[in-house]
Amino acid sequence: MNIGIEALSFYVPRYYLDLAALAAARGVDVDKYCIGLGQEKMAVPPPDEDVITMAANAGTQVLTHVDRNSIDTIMFATESGVDQSKAGAIFVHSLLDLPSTCRAFEIKQACCSSTAALDMAVALVHRHPDKKILIVAADVARYGFCTPGEPTQGAGAVAMVVSSSPRLVQLDNESGSYTEDVMDFWRPNYMDEAVVDGKLSIRTYLHALGESWQGYHRQSGRGLDEFERFCYHLPFTRMGEKAHAHLLAIGAATEGGAVSREPICRVSDSLHYNRQIGNSYTASLYISLSSMLEHADDLSGQRIGLFSYGSGCMASFFSGIVGNRYQEWLTGDLHRDMLGDRVELSYEAYEELYAQSGPITGDCQTPVHDTGQFRLAGITGHKRLYERVGASAAVPEPEPVA
Ligand code: CAA
Repeated sequence: MNIGIEALSFYVPRYYLDLAALAAARGVDVDKYCIGLGQEKMAVPPPDEDVITMAANAGTQVLTHVDRNSIDTIMFATESGVDQSKAGAIFVHSLLDLPSTCRAFEIKQACCSSTAALDMAVALVHRHPDKKILIVAADVARYGFCTPGEPTQGAGAVAMVVSSSPRLVQLDNESGSYTEDVMDFWRPNYMDEAVVDGKLSIRTYLHALGESWQGYHRQSGRGLDEFERFCYHLPFTRMGEKAHAHLLAIGAATEGGAVSREPICRVSDSLHYNRQIGNSYTASLYISLSSMLEHADDLSGQRIGLFSYGSGCMASFFSGIVGNRYQEWLTGDLHRDMLGDRVELSYEAYEELYAQSGPITGDCQTPVHDTGQFRLAGITGHKRLYERVGASAAVPEPEPVA
């Protein structure tokens, strides 16, 4: 049975900071960000935009041509969840008007839980080929102010429908995984910003890539020359280029002269969107896939390799074949317009939004900013209230503190 990605779309907040403005404020040569990290802009979410609103917007886009009643399960992959108990998937289930028979849960392992969700979705469709699974993956990548991680911030969400009609990418059965207990990047419950050992995280990413690839290669017997393109988890786009060079070096050592093609052209199409968005953790690899499908010349029937890395760490290398008529189902215009229509923030406005990262009390109204179709209206009695933009959720004024 053919199973894979039937539909794919992403959403980003309406605001961004040009990294030239950040470089000027930090007294850093802008080329360090634009060339050294390969980033131009970073998405900045306002306080009324969170992983739920971003995921619901991406979900709305992806369900345009899919019958909501056919969705059997919604899985929410995130490492910036809004509640320790209630799954973000339930809020999104409600905002998307999914049927009450549809299961909803959240799944976590840093940036690669979206790939774990994809694996689980494939298994579920295998059991019930008539069902479709909706995966939403959303994150706000937030690092300490003035830290080396700051220029690699960003935010965004993807939504994917997985089914037995894999119009975009039919997934192969083989995948290689790697797990190791490493403290390269984490976010304790009492902190809003990630803690990161940047250099260790890069070394661990590359090591995990090598190990995952070897596992995949042993299972499938495929060599690197059997792939037309590669997509990587992109904490910053230069990481994708580093990763690909590393994979080719491993391939050259194990496959000898068999690895021939020029490296960068096999990843460059996957970098366009992430360069404009920044890191989006769980969404990053699939925004990279979107960029690849929407920028590369015809990939019909070609095999692509994908690498998913989640700090801490767990990683997977897997692959798929692009559908024969995939271009008919792409939404590149929507994505390009969304990125092009964003509002540029001044450095001062970024600093102000950074300081108001999100609600910190159980009763508050959230100031209205420019968002997509959904916004966080506020919190009352510790309950988060979401509203469709234009339809007020009438959040009660917070009680004055006695
Ligand atoms: N012109 C051009 N290039 C320049 C330059 C200039 N003027 N100045 C510096 N550079 C280059 C450097 O040579 C370097 O390139 P190479 O790595 O190819 O040598 C690059 O710019 C970055 O410079 P530094 O290494 O000096 O940068 P840094 O120490 O300030 O921070 C970072 C870089 C470690 C990635 C930091 O941004 C960070 O900690 N980011 C968050 C963690 C992260 O993204 N880790 C990635 C792997 S973990 C993961 O993937 C999971 C996840 O999503 C977090």
